[in-house]
Amino acid sequence: MKVGFYPGSFDPFTKGHLHVVKTSSELFDKVVIAIGVNAQKSRRYEKDEMKQAIEETLKNENIVNVEVITFSGLSVDVAKQYGCHFLIRGIRNDMDYYYEENMAQLNEDLSGLDTIYIRAGKMGAISSSIVMELENNGRDVKEYVPEAIYNSMRKSKK
Ligand code: PNS
Repeated sequence: MKVGFYPGSFDPFTKGHLHVVKTSSELFDKVVIAIGVNAQKSRRYEKDEMKQAIEETLKNENIVNVEVITFSGLSVDVAKQYGCHFLIRGIRNDMDYYYEENMAQLNEDLSGLDTIYIRAGKMGAISSSIVMELENNGRDVKEYVPEAIYNSMRKSKK
């Protein structure tokens, strides 16, 4: 059984992330979405509230072979704990590629785990940071995030 590990901040989880999850869930027997902390970013939404909203999204999309976890520490350590065989990352453009390639090489050195890149698809122009920027400036982000995430963002008290 091949298991993929999809780490990210998912702050918030976008339709681009959902596209990556859909593709991964077809390629792997099981996928673990792992909500972690990027040392360079401060979180807007609690990891647990995002976990719940992602689980609801998976249910709405009838995706059954994907588990959602939260973690701290190194991605590769947690990926190994969960018996994962590959790391998964979404790629939108060349800038993403340079950043991802550095991280992938480091992660491979640390653990031997290789990273599979998956295209973000039609939602490739959208990132969590852009969604937050639109949200913070009073624009409706309904088009860019799954419904359950949108509802969770509305409920978030922060
Ligand atoms: O969605 P992001 O912000 O690009 O996700 C980055 C994330 C959380 C996957 C990355 O920062 C991460 O793996 N953090 C955990 C600590 C770690 O493993 N760092 C080593 C990779 S350089």
